[in-house]
Amino acid sequence: MTSAQLHDYWDGFYDSVASGGVPGEPSAFARWAHERIAPGAPVVELGFGTARDAFFFANSAHPIRAYDFAEAAVRHARERAASEALDAEFDVLDLYDADSVLSAAAQLSALTEPVVYGRFLIHSLEDHGRTNLLDLAAKALAGGGELLLEFRTGLDAGGTHLFGDDHFRIYLDPDHVAGEIVARGGTITHHEAGHGLAVYKTEDPHVARLAATFS
Ligand SMILES: C[S@@+](CC[C@H](N)C(=O)[O-])C[C@H]1O[C@@H](n2cnc3c(N)ncnc32)[C@H](O)[C@@H]1O
Repeated sequence: MTSAQLHDYWDGFYDSVASGGVPGEPSAFARWAHERIAPGAPVVELGFGTARDAFFFANSAHPIRAYDFAEAAVRHARERAASEALDAEFDVLDLYDADSVLSAAAQLSALTEPVVYGRFLIHSLEDHGRTNLLDLAAKALAGGGELLLEFRTGLDAGGTHLFGDDHFRIYLDPDHVAGEIVARGGTITHHEAGHGLAVYKTEDPHVARLAATFS
């Protein structure tokens, strides 16, 4: 798939009834993150989708800046943020566009110890998108804060996928991703992988959670 096709897939998904199947409540990863991070810390969510986690953070007193490349996702999230008068900004950012990612990183580095958060994002990205994301994290977190990622691992490749297998997915080796973080000067502060972390109905994927600092 080209990056334009991936964009059109996700943009269509967030404008379709299929996205109504995504649970409305926050993910278990968002709840875990909330326990971990400092009260009031700004959260930068990348690939927010239906924004269920973004709204959870906003409603938990974390100012949130959230990005997705699907305009439909941004439109829906902005409508909801306006109706609920929350401290939440939603913008379009394409992680395949290195120049845009660089300028977003420069803006984000002005935040005080932000949390850069991506759930089920990096397994949805081709390699250069993941590279751009990690470069953004390294730059935005140089002055403090933490990167939090949850993603499907290689052990999930043969598993049941209730949202179907037409999503682009790359099943990642957590040690490989950890190595990419360390190569950018990062320190891994949490590393776990297993089942039971992201259960959805009858689906219990094998996922990894990585946390890292760059300061
Ligand atoms: C599997 S969904 C996860 C959504 C949400 N984080 C969740 O856990 O429900 C992957 C998300 O990544 C976004 N995404 C994929 N490629 C992207 C890119 N190149 N730039 C920005 N967002 C992207 C998609 O639009 C989608 O919202």
